[in-house]
Amino acid sequence: MRGGCKPAELSPGKTRNVTNTTGSEGQELVKRVWTELQRATVDRHHEWRTPVLATTGLDGLPHARTVVLRSAEAQTQQLVFFTDRRSPKVAELQTVPAAAFVFWSKRLSWQLRVRVSTRVHTAGTLVDAAWARVSQSAAASDYLTPHPPGSPLHQPDADNPLAHHLAVVTAQVEHLDWLELARDGHRRARLTPDAAEWLVP
Ligand SMILES: Cc1cc2nc3c(=O)[nH]c(=O)nc-3n(C[C@H](O)[C@H](O)[C@H](O)COP(=O)(O)O)c2cc1C
Repeated sequence: MRGGCKPAELSPGKTRNVTNTTGSEGQELVKRVWTELQRATVDRHHEWRTPVLATTGLDGLPHARTVVLRSAEAQTQQLVFFTDRRSPKVAELQTVPAAAFVFWSKRLSWQLRVRVSTRVHTAGTLVDAAWARVSQSAAASDYLTPHPPGSPLHQPDADNPLAHHLAVVTAQVEHLDWLELARDGHRRARLTPDAAEWLVP
């Protein structure tokens, strides 16, 4: 694994000559990618901890924002993030569950684009377990604001200031596109749960 190398510019003609096969190299790559995703959920400094999440807005336009990756499980092919259930992205995902994450790591020189199908959980054991965890942390206040994220400041406070608004969003991976920038040739692959299909970068 490269450490801190400067990513080379992506240009035609810098493509390494790789074959379109799914061998042990592909399996190893899938494993490494999921290992990095999992690490990002526990390492505050991991660059993949804060991916960009893109959704389709209620206006039909693209909307994107940063979120914190809370869980990544290779076995279930699932990513998880937390949000405020009153935030615009929740209504967006409840209307169009398809979304995409983009991860970039300079250390790895890896970009990961993940198309997902999401499900928003606003009550139940998943949310209770998440709140038990979040309520012990500084992030708790993010989910206790009297007014929804994005609403104008300086409004009268709502009735129950102690009620939390945490929602858990589970995202089922449907398509995983990995790109590595390297001086001696870029590499790109579509990753399935146990194989890689090499693509032209
Ligand atoms: C580093 C960083 C991490 C963030 N993590 C989250 C998160 O985990 N969940 C979340 O709802 N918003 C998070 N935000 C805020 C969102 O980017 C966004 O501003 C907010 O959720 C409102 O988004 P929306 O209007 O599209 O719903 C984060 C912002 C930054 C800069």
